[in-house]
Amino acid sequence: MRLLLLLRLALPFLPAAAQQPVAHLQIDAGKIVRQASPRMYGLMTEEINHSYEGGLYAELLSNDTFRGNWMSIAQWGLALKGDAVATSSLDPKDGPSPALPESLELNVASASPASPAGLSNPGYWGIAVRPHTTYTGSFYAEANPAIGPVTIRLIANQTGAVLASTQVALAGAGWRSYSFQLRSGQKASSAENHFELTVAHPGTLHLQLVTLFPPTFDDQPNGNRPDLMEKLAAMHPNFIRLPGGNYLEGNRIEDRFDWEKTIGPLADRPGHQGPWGYWSTDQFGLLEFLEWTQQLHVEPVLAVYAGYSLKGKHVTPGPDLEPYVQSALHEVEYVTGDAHTPWGAQRVRDGHPAPFPLHYIEIGNEDSFDRSGSYPARFAQFAQALRKKYPQYKLIATAPIPQSPAKPGDVPDLLDDHYYKSPEQMFALVHHYDAAPRTGPKVLVGEWATVSATPTPDFGDALGDAAWMTGMERNSDLIKMASYAPLFVNVRNAVWRTNLIGYDALSSYGSPSYYAQCLFAAHMGDAIPQNSLTGLNPSARFFYSVTESRRERLLHLKLVNATTLAHPLQIALQGAGAGAHVATAYSLHGATFEATNTLRNPLAIHPVQSSLHFTGTVLQHTVPALTIEVIDLPLQ
Ligand code: AHR
Repeated sequence: MRLLLLLRLALPFLPAAAQQPVAHLQIDAGKIVRQASPRMYGLMTEEINHSYEGGLYAELLSNDTFRGNWMSIAQWGLALKGDAVATSSLDPKDGPSPALPESLELNVASASPASPAGLSNPGYWGIAVRPHTTYTGSFYAEANPAIGPVTIRLIANQTGAVLASTQVALAGAGWRSYSFQLRSGQKASSAENHFELTVAHPGTLHLQLVTLFPPTFDDQPNGNRPDLMEKLAAMHPNFIRLPGGNYLEGNRIEDRFDWEKTIGPLADRPGHQGPWGYWSTDQFGLLEFLEWTQQLHVEPVLAVYAGYSLKGKHVTPGPDLEPYVQSALHEVEYVTGDAHTPWGAQRVRDGHPAPFPLHYIEIGNEDSFDRSGSYPARFAQFAQALRKKYPQYKLIATAPIPQSPAKPGDVPDLLDDHYYKSPEQMFALVHHYDAAPRTGPKVLVGEWATVSATPTPDFGDALGDAAWMTGMERNSDLIKMASYAPLFVNVRNAVWRTNLIGYDALSSYGSPSYYAQCLFAAHMGDAIPQNSLTGLNPSARFFYSVTESRRERLLHLKLVNATTLAHPLQIALQGAGAGAHVATAYSLHGATFEATNTLRNPLAIHPVQSSLHFTGTVLQHTVPALTIEVIDLPLQ
């Protein structure tokens, strides 16, 4: 004993104990104290970090509508073999549709089958080519057919090897659309490839909307990347909050997500400048957003533009705002109307006969940034029109609306709160809603994330996220829905610091926070039983929540140990019954706060499942250091 004491004095940094003191968690599964929101977890992202174009939306070619910049047509270079001679330029006055009035003009002075001339495209930091795979493409062209046929190839950057190739004959004068298929051979998967489109004769070729798709999720045309869709499905989401975020608002009013310009044939979509530094073609437009929700079996939370844009301009409530209100009414009709309504009929013409389910409409995004103070009046104008035509929907405000003198219909059903915090700030915020009033609007936490690592959360961020989720679950009588943001990052273009799922052209990975969310969402109950934790070291960063699935007779326990000491618990569970029980534990552990997953090491941190055996109503359980655990306990 004396020797130990001496050693401690001599080594002041030696931990006094290898673990935290035992804490006592008492749960009475029979006494429900609050309802929980079993459909709480959802998804949110927008066109940021190449989330759609260069991400979820499977199109492989970048700048497929030939947006020019001050130097050239971005992403499109000349591909000249042998002694071929050609130039390319933007023709501002010749395009296939009013929405796409420009085209790329290729002037070929000299070319032959041995020396073809044409264009190349690098994709989004590469083009993934997989063995024995069919790629489907299309383009609009205007040309003298004698310049053709057009040869299309996928080519390995390092070796020049042709990985897939096909030819398309040109049909005659005027703008025409063409489609083609390419089939790859047996070379191993790689993203270090590019696309080439060439001709073998002199002449002039105008091109627009050149597309190329790999196989998509559920084989949907104009569809989504399967690996990302599978990752989303594993999150057990209940809704997608769409289309943004700042992407809804745009930097200027004219840059807003003007939904009517994002539907219909791709050639009828002009595209628009997004707020995150790049152009959006809107080929992933409103209908693609909605079909995305359908493919994941979730509902949209539809955010409508409410007359405020990021650089501070707002539309004055009253007659000036009315066209925007009408546009929102039309948008809701496009989403939910049947074939007898004008906008429902438009959706049918666009290829989607069935209306989409809808329960929530959000009016704007982060309108507390509107320093003009116009939001309450803007919200009221939208709310009155929406409630008159669609009284069944719940309306979400993005900034507090003063209760007085608002009319009852102008009071939002939910308020959208956003949190981006460091791990320490998240730990400190875990009890934020515990004493919040239960008399006003419910809460959508429409954006939240622990943000320190980039481009995706490390384990310290995951601990912050898991701790925060315990707070949301404890208050899920008030917090009806929650969506982490942003969801996606192409690791070659991380314009936002911390994002849940990372990918490049070829592969993707879930961050530690992603796995924490998968676990929390898959094990969420519909009620909160009486519970208390005593004996907790007040300085220990230890967090928990308890929910109960009443029908399944299962208790879901979430435990977050954000310290470097193990944490023993004595769990007394009224409702477990006598006899032997087996609980299932899912454990996520990181060696340090900085430990993380990457493209190269995608599963460094991943959930591990185990069984916990106990008898009667008491389970002795130790949560290891730096560990997030979800435990399902069977009830009688
Ligand atoms: O999620 C990134 C951005 O953060 C969203 O666009 C915006 O709503 C918030 O400020």
